[in-house]
Amino acid sequence: MKIKNICCIGAGYVGGPTMAVIAQKNPDIMVTVVDLDEDRINQWNEKELDKLPIYEPGLAKVISETRNRNLFFSTQIDNSIEKSEIIFISVNTPTKTYGDGKGMAADLKYVELCARQIARVAKTDKIVVEKSTLPVKTAEAIQDILNNTGNGVNFEILSNPEFLAEGTAMRDLAVPDRVLIGGNYKTKNGKKAMKSLVNIYESWVPKKNILTTNIWSSELSKLTANAFLAQRVSSINSLSELCEATGADVLEVAKAIGMDTRIGDKFLKPSVGFGGSCFQKDILNLVYIAKSLGLNEVAEYWHQVIKMNNYQRFRFAKNIIRSLYNTVNGKKIAFLGWSFKKDTNDTRESAAIYVADALLNEKAYISVFDPKVNSKKIMDDINSLGTRPENQNMKYLKFEKEPYKIADGAHAIAILTEWDEFKNYDWKRIFNLMNKPAFIFDGRNILDKIILEKIGFVYQGVGRR
Ligand code: UDX
Ligand code: ADP
Repeated sequence: MKIKNICCIGAGYVGGPTMAVIAQKNPDIMVTVVDLDEDRINQWNEKELDKLPIYEPGLAKVISETRNRNLFFSTQIDNSIEKSEIIFISVNTPTKTYGDGKGMAADLKYVELCARQIARVAKTDKIVVEKSTLPVKTAEAIQDILNNTGNGVNFEILSNPEFLAEGTAMRDLAVPDRVLIGGNYKTKNGKKAMKSLVNIYESWVPKKNILTTNIWSSELSKLTANAFLAQRVSSINSLSELCEATGADVLEVAKAIGMDTRIGDKFLKPSVGFGGSCFQKDILNLVYIAKSLGLNEVAEYWHQVIKMNNYQRFRFAKNIIRSLYNTVNGKKIAFLGWSFKKDTNDTRESAAIYVADALLNEKAYISVFDPKVNSKKIMDDINSLGTRPENQNMKYLKFEKEPYKIADGAHAIAILTEWDEFKNYDWKRIFNLMNKPAFIFDGRNILDKIILEKIGFVYQGVGRR
């Protein structure tokens, strides 16, 4: 089937950048990204490119090249579904906050709504592509809804999980390690649908990097890839505590084991804990699936990765309190970074939120600076935990637009995100602004301990004495 129009439902961190690259590499295909959220669509249509709803290095350039050429952002969902041969579902699938599977299973409400909308609107055959990370066998549910509520047209479901990481999304999309397409290759229509999607990616991805599998392998591979990556971070973080207790240096250990080509050196950076919208959600999902199948040992094995991560965040906060003579009551702690990693404005599940919450419980004052996160997002994040009344959060948690402001009168600096610019700050000036002894808790090990100690700081990294 020759594809002329693509619709992507969901203009988020996945839908926006992915469709921008598909449009860039396929100038003869019209790509429309639709969303219920009118504000978000307006932001995607902003003339000033620094007002796009998400920050991702290199994204603005691709948007300026493609927008209104063959890439469009719109709230007219029905219209876009109707005219497209392929529809990507790229909506959010948060962890359920209610009912059966609460705190574990993925909430498929938004995906189901999309499926019902596609079924209602479609008057011609459609290829429906799962782009959101979904539990295994979701495709079956989508197929069921489409077949039972549709207008008698044919729907082919494909799973095409996105492996991009935030902060490097544009590079990950331009030169992906692999593109995974799961489908029903036992039927003629299934094969045809897979071929149509393969063709789109072949515009820029070498054939050997496009992997086709059955649909359940594809769904499970996405969950598993994230679980393995998160497991590496939890493994090195567990060793960071052992290193602190023994005097070994976790960076030296990571380097030594990473040089073993069987292990490899990626995802071995100790930190204050992983965040992001995927790792925790996907592992909890995996745990839930394993439990539902009665595979308790499998469930427990993966659950430990999350427990270790929660413990690492808590341990970081606890160490600040202990170092500041067992009380942070009334003291000012300066946070450098709030996003869950550098080069993104995404704060979902960021360690900063949980460290702040633990310190606020101890009545500390927290001042935050992050190059790309704004004050509203920070307040929304902390309020969403529901730990204390919002007016109390407002009183104790402050956001500053200028990094040196947060250091003024602070007892400690805590580095929560590894933004490059933090390394180049005038640390002597920061020292002079702070209360003494001036502590630095470097949750990302990005600063030079020797230089900082020379200035006079008491410096503590993760996993190193
Ligand atoms: C992840 C997967 O990498 C990506 O393939 C998938 O599509 C979505 O989930 P993302 O969450 O955007 O991507 O970022 P990632 O680079 O994986 O980092 C996740 C978290 O782990 C961040 O908080 C990061 O700071 C932390 N991390 C990562 C570490 O603490 N140490 C490391 O060595 C690597
Ligand atoms: P992700 O990181 O997976 O891209 P986001 O939360 O950034 O997740 O984006 C998901 C987007 O999907 C949001 O902008 C949300 O408004 C949109 N969305 C959710 N449900 C629907 C729906 N039924 N129709 C259209 N858009 C939807």
